[in-house]
Amino acid sequence: MPETFAVLLAARLRDALSRCAFANELPVDFTPQVDPAQNRQFGDYQSNAAMILAKELRRNPREVATMVVEAFDGSGLCAAPEIAGPGFINFRLTGEALQARFAELLDDEERLGVARTDVPKTVVLDFSAPNVAKPMHVGHIRSTIIGDGLGRIARFLGHRVISDNHIGDWGTQFGMILWGWKHLLDESALETTPIAELLRIYREVNALTKEDETVLDSCKAELVALQGGDAENLGIWERCVDLSKKGLQQIYDLLDVRFDHWYGESFYNERLAPLVDDLLASGIAEVSEGAVCVFFREDEKLSDKPAIIRKSDGGFLYATTDLATIDFRIQELGADAIWYVVGAPQQLHFEQIFSVARRRGQHADFRHIAFGSILGKDRKMLKTRSGDTVQLADVLEEAVVRARAIIEEKNPGLPEEEKAEISRVIGIGSVKYAELSQYRMTDYIFDWDNMLSLKGNTAPYLINAYVRTRSIFRKLGSDFDSEGGSLVFTDEAENALALKLSQYPEIVPTILEDFRPNALAAYLYEVATTYHQFWEACPVLKVEGDVRHTRLALSEMTGRVLRHGLGLLGIRTTERM
Ligand code: ARG
Repeated sequence: MPETFAVLLAARLRDALSRCAFANELPVDFTPQVDPAQNRQFGDYQSNAAMILAKELRRNPREVATMVVEAFDGSGLCAAPEIAGPGFINFRLTGEALQARFAELLDDEERLGVARTDVPKTVVLDFSAPNVAKPMHVGHIRSTIIGDGLGRIARFLGHRVISDNHIGDWGTQFGMILWGWKHLLDESALETTPIAELLRIYREVNALTKEDETVLDSCKAELVALQGGDAENLGIWERCVDLSKKGLQQIYDLLDVRFDHWYGESFYNERLAPLVDDLLASGIAEVSEGAVCVFFREDEKLSDKPAIIRKSDGGFLYATTDLATIDFRIQELGADAIWYVVGAPQQLHFEQIFSVARRRGQHADFRHIAFGSILGKDRKMLKTRSGDTVQLADVLEEAVVRARAIIEEKNPGLPEEEKAEISRVIGIGSVKYAELSQYRMTDYIFDWDNMLSLKGNTAPYLINAYVRTRSIFRKLGSDFDSEGGSLVFTDEAENALALKLSQYPEIVPTILEDFRPNALAAYLYEVATTYHQFWEACPVLKVEGDVRHTRLALSEMTGRVLRHGLGLLGIRTTERM
């Protein structure tokens, strides 16, 4: 795999440094950083290496930059670098270098220049994980969409990703569900709309327990019976879990999200008691006021926040299950990394269990990939008009209906079936993209008009840019033919687009550094706007020969990058819209 421009320039920069008068004073392992320039006016890439070195060497940054630039050999790659501001070094690639790199990328249909990681890991990816018989609300959408996107990216980079839906199938909610099942169940509703019926039961019982303490006590008794292995209750529980899973599967199908496993919380039941014994025996846990706890006395942040792993009544907790889950994932699934895509409110929980795991000698790459909330346009928690939590299934349905209206307006003549398919792609894609184009920690505002707009950083805009590349080949009457001519860049807009496209391999690997799919989204948006500028400046089908071939090649490559990049975010494209 040929190197990216950023890597090539950094290597030349290192060579230049080794030729400078201060070469023997350089800090060991000094790796100069080279980044794409913000504004092409000043060049294509930029480095702050001279400024960083000047500090280390106690020299003037512009003086260091001048020495570096003088020693720099850019032959075959870039023009003589320029110094800007306090000591930035700016590089401008030569047209030939851009053209040669673009030719290589065009040949690499499978990977578009993106290298596989040198250190492939087995990653268990824990995401979505809704709770059975409780609604899967839009809060879960963040976990589902971010987790799925990260999984696609990690796989493409060469990691072995095992996705595991750690559903909450053993919570205290089953006390209420069991009681409701026995007293309030509408069998026919269960047949036709199981999820809604379970939810109705849960809500009604929940309300009843607040009015009537005896109901609450009966619910508790049902839960104790279930946990004690009561056959009738276990049978009902099993049916609830099955029905719930079926309902969830429909949503995942719509979202095009897949799991390798669904080891829910109940899967670990048998492992909890031995785990607690083990933690007691090793001295990591201790008995405190009848409960079994792990204290974190050395850790300033956690010193007054012990984790309870067995209550004084013998019951186990969320943390106990998660510790058993870590054992299983490391021992049975061979995980070297476990990534949890779970909301920010669970931060303390994950700090605690990661700390316990490390004390047990488990050194996987544990990450809590947290995210903020989804707010309504009023900046309050998103609610339906009647004040209920918004249900994911309803959101997706509405998205498709709204996308349909846009298609009807934009392209009413399309065949019925194609319209339906495009509406699904655009509707679902818009909801996903609205999520993934935001930094995950910011609370984002759920706004239909913004997410479905054909302008701005939205899925419809990006898909439309892809459609534009395809329409050129439809008009041409054939697909791109790589043998159809030679590459020759004749317009500045072509250079700009080729540069942007050549940066795909620089961007993709960085997404996992801090789990920021929004950086990929931002990049794709730039590709689309750069293509738009190219499209305005450079007629494609009205020109002939190699110029036409080059412009077709740029359109083809833009289409590939947009389709592939959106694909990594779990968003499909359509040929028309
Ligand atoms: N079911 C939990 C919830 O809805 C999320 C589980 C996340 N995964 C985990 N291993 N704790 O809050």
